[in-house]
Amino acid sequence: MTGSVIIAGLGPGNPDMVTPEVADALAQATDIVGYIPYVARIPPRDGLTLHASDNRVEIDRSRHALEMAAGGKRVVVVSSGDPGVFAMAAAVFEALEAGPQDWRALDIRVLPGITAMLAAAAAGAPLGHDFCAINLSDNLKPWDLIEKRLRLAAEADFAMAFYNPRSKSRPDGFARALDVLREACGDARPILFARNVSRPDQSLRIVPLTDATPDMADMRTMVIAGSSATRVIDTPRGPILYTPRSA
Ligand SMILES: C[S@@+](CC[C@H](N)C(=O)[O-])C[C@H]1O[C@@H](n2cnc3c(N)ncnc32)[C@H](O)[C@@H]1O
Repeated sequence: MTGSVIIAGLGPGNPDMVTPEVADALAQATDIVGYIPYVARIPPRDGLTLHASDNRVEIDRSRHALEMAAGGKRVVVVSSGDPGVFAMAAAVFEALEAGPQDWRALDIRVLPGITAMLAAAAAGAPLGHDFCAINLSDNLKPWDLIEKRLRLAAEADFAMAFYNPRSKSRPDGFARALDVLREACGDARPILFARNVSRPDQSLRIVPLTDATPDMADMRTMVIAGSSATRVIDTPRGPILYTPRSA
């Protein structure tokens, strides 16, 4: 088979954070597949077809990409950030596993991107010691499991990076997550709310857990909760959040 599927990460938003490898794949593509706002980041050109689709159709979108590649197209499936982090790479492999055997002969590659967690952490070095990442959306897993992982991660004293903290369809989960953190680790932890990181309207806010409120987060926000060792250095240019490398 001559077609290919490249699953590429577009980074957090700033075009300078698209890797040269991804830019090259986009320049070679015949077809781009992805969620509407991510496909909107690709400039149209002759010979390129853009296939934008809605959020909750990842498996259909993946099958479509694999079908087009089986027909000889050079398909790039785009995700924001990194495609392996709560994004399209796993969806494409799920479709591959369940699909026709001949799809397995396709040239399928994952090109990494800068994930929102790392772009947000560049506000300092909050992930300088052990950390974990948790998706707070309960669309694809039960809330009880999220709460269990939050409690255990807090008990293990990880710094924690939270993707998908709060949305219009899930207004209450993040308030519950903050309550779980307060119960598990007290009020002193610093919390970073990093919204629209790397974009012109980026905003960064560091507050103690005791002052964190649910309305500080939305679907464009990455939340990083410090471990017990994480601290803030005040500078004239603003606060720097960091976690020392030793426990
Ligand atoms: C479905 S996840 C996709 C993550 C993506 N694959 C990545 O690696 O960054 C979407 C979540 O990522 C976070 N996110 C993505 N881009 C962001 C940005 N520029 N600033 C802050 N958070 C961002 C938000 O928490 C958002 O709800």
